Amino acid sequence: MKRGQLSTIVLGLVLAVGTVGCSAAGQAASVPANPSVQADVSLKGELRWTGNYATDIQPIFDSYCVQCHNAQRPENGLRLDSYDNVMKGTTYGKVVVPGSAPASTLAQVVQGKASEKIRMPHQGPRLSPNRIQNIVLWIEAGAKQD
Ligand code: HEC
Repeated sequence: MKRGQLSTIVLGLVLAVGTVGCSAAGQAASVPANPSVQADVSLKGELRWTGNYATDIQPIFDSYCVQCHNAQRPENGLRLDSYDNVMKGTTYGKVVVPGSAPASTLAQVVQGKASEKIRMPHQGPRLSPNRIQNIVLWIEAGAKQD
């Protein structure tokens, strides 16, 4: 292929891409903003904790957390092997604030809302959505032992 041919092809591509780009932008601009479209709507329902710590929460910690949060290996001083130890928290303070998942570090780290470095389980796959939701609901409902 000669040099002239190549530059013709390149120019053609640039023009084609430019045209597509322009028409897409033109279309977007011609659609009027719909004032009834809102960022979000209010939730028409209620999520309510109906579980039990011993049968629904501790088993999550036993399966996914205690290997790094036990008596021999308490990362950050945190043991998740019993209700009392969960409520005690880390060397630095509590990780469960009864009634508030947003204020509870434990809820934040399982939801992945803290930095990726301290997402829990550490370096493992995330908990399933319903396990995460159950932890959140348990905390929101007061983080009770029964
Ligand atoms: C593979 C080991 C490992 C597993 C499994 C693990 N953690 Fe951790 N966890 C750590 C380490 C390491 C830290 C300290 C992280 C840091 O401070 O950077 C930590 C810290 C924490 C903290 C304190 C965070 C803070 O900011 O003080 C909480 C809460 C926590 N883990 C909860 C959990 C929960 C809940 C699970 C199970 C869903 C879990 N961890 C599973 C290793 C682990």
